[in-house]
Amino acid sequence: MSIIVSPSLLSADFLHLDEQVRMINDSDADWLHLDVMDGVFVPNISFGFPVIEAVKRITTKPLDVHLMIVEPERYVEKTAKAGAWLMNVHAEACRHLDRTIHEIHDAGMKAGVTLCPATPVSAIENVVDDVDLILLMGVNPGFSGQQFIPNTVRKTEQLRKLLDERGSKAIIEVDGGVNASTAPLLVKAGADALVSGNFVFKADNPNANIQLLKGLKK
Ligand code: DX5
Ligand code: ZN
Repeated sequence: MSIIVSPSLLSADFLHLDEQVRMINDSDADWLHLDVMDGVFVPNISFGFPVIEAVKRITTKPLDVHLMIVEPERYVEKTAKAGAWLMNVHAEACRHLDRTIHEIHDAGMKAGVTLCPATPVSAIENVVDDVDLILLMGVNPGFSGQQFIPNTVRKTEQLRKLLDERGSKAIIEVDGGVNASTAPLLVKAGADALVSGNFVFKADNPNANIQLLKGLKK
């Protein structure tokens, strides 16, 4: 199985979103990653449901929606209606993570749980059997184009070990600072899916970089 690549639209040219989404449609990317920020959970505000709905109208890729917001459980229905295929919520933002995971499934979406760099892998130990994906942040959430935090590689190894011990088929996705030098380390450590903002959208040839990530061997 090749590596799953999910380009992050946060690094796209927002003045030409339509072109940028179509460029991803024509690429070898697997998913499209959408970063929703509320200015409270993270120190930045990006875009919300109207933009997701608009992207959904033309995208041919499953939408991997990453909610960097407080109380994401309030927006499960809206996220589903907007067209998300997978809803990623932060473990740090959920008071009742187990309940929220079930609500995401009940709304017809895949459920992902995201961990910030300072949150230990053990934070998802008790929900491992119920999630479809675990998203490890390689940077502190809020901005694209930040420098990769090296400890993410060790965290990926720890998570791989935990999932293998539990016989879990959950996908390990890593988000933030993914590029030609960090991606091979993450894949070796056990990552299945890579989110990439700047490395894809700021490249002269975005699809060449998508292919580079997809071709990495475990
Ligand atoms: C950061 C976002 C990421 C970001 C990745 O808060 O969750 O998805 O856009 O951008 P790069 O790949 O440039 O670090
Ligand atoms: Zn993200």
